[in-house]
Amino acid sequence: MNFPVITIDGPTASGKGTVAHRVAKHLGFHYLDSGALYRLTALSATRRGIALDNEDGLAAMARVLPCLFVKGHVFLDGEDVTDAVRAEAIGVAASKIAVLPKVRQALVDLQIAFRTTPGLVADGRDMGTVIFPDAIQKVYLTASVEARADRRYKQLIEKGFSASMKDLVKDLTERDARDTTRASAPLKPAPGAYILDTSDMTVDEAVHIVLDLYANAVKLST
Ligand code: C5P
Repeated sequence: MNFPVITIDGPTASGKGTVAHRVAKHLGFHYLDSGALYRLTALSATRRGIALDNEDGLAAMARVLPCLFVKGHVFLDGEDVTDAVRAEAIGVAASKIAVLPKVRQALVDLQIAFRTTPGLVADGRDMGTVIFPDAIQKVYLTASVEARADRRYKQLIEKGFSASMKDLVKDLTERDARDTTRASAPLKPAPGAYILDTSDMTVDEAVHIVLDLYANAVKLST
């Protein structure tokens, strides 16, 4: 189905989740947090004792991932894991399993199913390059490592997790390297994507820019 899609890809902690969520709310669109699917797969693997390099075992599990998204909450096997999936260790595990092509393939249908009426805002690493190449507006949202570490630090402390800036900068740098250099669906701006650097920008400013870009794209397409 050709319901409009806005893709917002970018490195970890660039603020794309917050911006994508706000844009979706403003437009009354659905919202896909594709990173949550990789995090859920990692969390489920950890709980079931499946090794993070067992590609076939992980893919088999991901194909039938018992997950549910309800009003900003994420459920795994019926349990509310909204906070558990945000833990830094699960993010790191997610980025390790995300390099495995069979795991990525296993999650494709689940992601495409989010494209429904009246439209979708999808955030991740390969939304514009692989999953929704026909998106009406593609955005590559980024920020400096320091700005991203600072945002992630505040997020974690707010949720009651402990955090260290030094460890976060190291984690983010390693995850950027894994995400951008992997062979399967590496993180990079999609062709035609608008590059938005939010290092010195408020969330409101970023949201306005994306909404303007979308309004222009709609105008151009009609
Ligand atoms: O966006 P978030 O930090 O929640 O994603 C967790 C990890 O999942 C990322 O570091 C990335 O390796 C992986 N991911 C991915 N493709 C996506 C979304 C997330 O590889 N579309």
